[in-house]
Amino acid sequence: MNIIIKKNYREMSKKAAEEVAQAIQNKPNLILGLASGSTVIELYKILVEKSQKGELDFSQVTTFNLDEYVGTQIYHSFMREHLFSKINIKKENTFFPPEDPAKTEIFEQLIQDKGGIDLQILGLGLNGHIAFNEPGSSFESRTRIVNLTQTTLSDNAKFFSDPSHIPGQAVTLGIADIMEAKKILLLASGKEKSQIVSKALKGPVTEEIPASILQKHPDVTVLLDQEAAKLLEKESELSAWIDPSTIIN
Ligand code: GLP
Repeated sequence: MNIIIKKNYREMSKKAAEEVAQAIQNKPNLILGLASGSTVIELYKILVEKSQKGELDFSQVTTFNLDEYVGTQIYHSFMREHLFSKINIKKENTFFPPEDPAKTEIFEQLIQDKGGIDLQILGLGLNGHIAFNEPGSSFESRTRIVNLTQTTLSDNAKFFSDPSHIPGQAVTLGIADIMEAKKILLLASGKEKSQIVSKALKGPVTEEIPASILQKHPDVTVLLDQEAAKLLEKESELSAWIDPSTIIN
């Protein structure tokens, strides 16, 4: 696990954008896993800038989004607004997990048929969720409908003009799907994430902290800003727990 700490949200996002851009340059028909939420907004903005300057070509890229609220198109709209409508990606190459359980298998097969996810971008929920795999989700879980926890509902209320309209369910890729990605970029920013970052990265690997499973993935880069890394930095002064490959910028 590589942990890269940048001084602020903007610098963290720039580094994430460089990683994505590099991956597309190395493989123009990249299979890219995408997250929604506030953390990735600046990353997408920088990718749009690069694309509009002609530095990045999405014409052969395929994307799979991680999740969506059931009965809504909220994350579809989010992706259109922040990325898809501003880059040269083909609409038919952008996929979201289906709400219809009968279509889940086809969706998972499609990921396999495309050769699997090359690069998966992940945010981190305050309760340790990745995508909408809430605490207690099985590490073997696959794409499915889940009930959202009260914590997630209140954390995500900020995205809804009327918080009472937040759907209680979401469709999400499972943890096993995420772990099959060849490379993972996990992003976390802000001091409110510092506790969960520390638990997920250096605590025990447990289904109670879904993101902790990433410790077992062979190719994960964690991108943090200094606030999110606050508790890690303190720990690292006390003991050299950080992997020697860790880069701190
Ligand atoms: C949300 C989404 C995730 C996201 C994570 C972090 O609830 N389901 O895909 O990565 O939680 O969200 P944010 O970036 O807004 O903190």
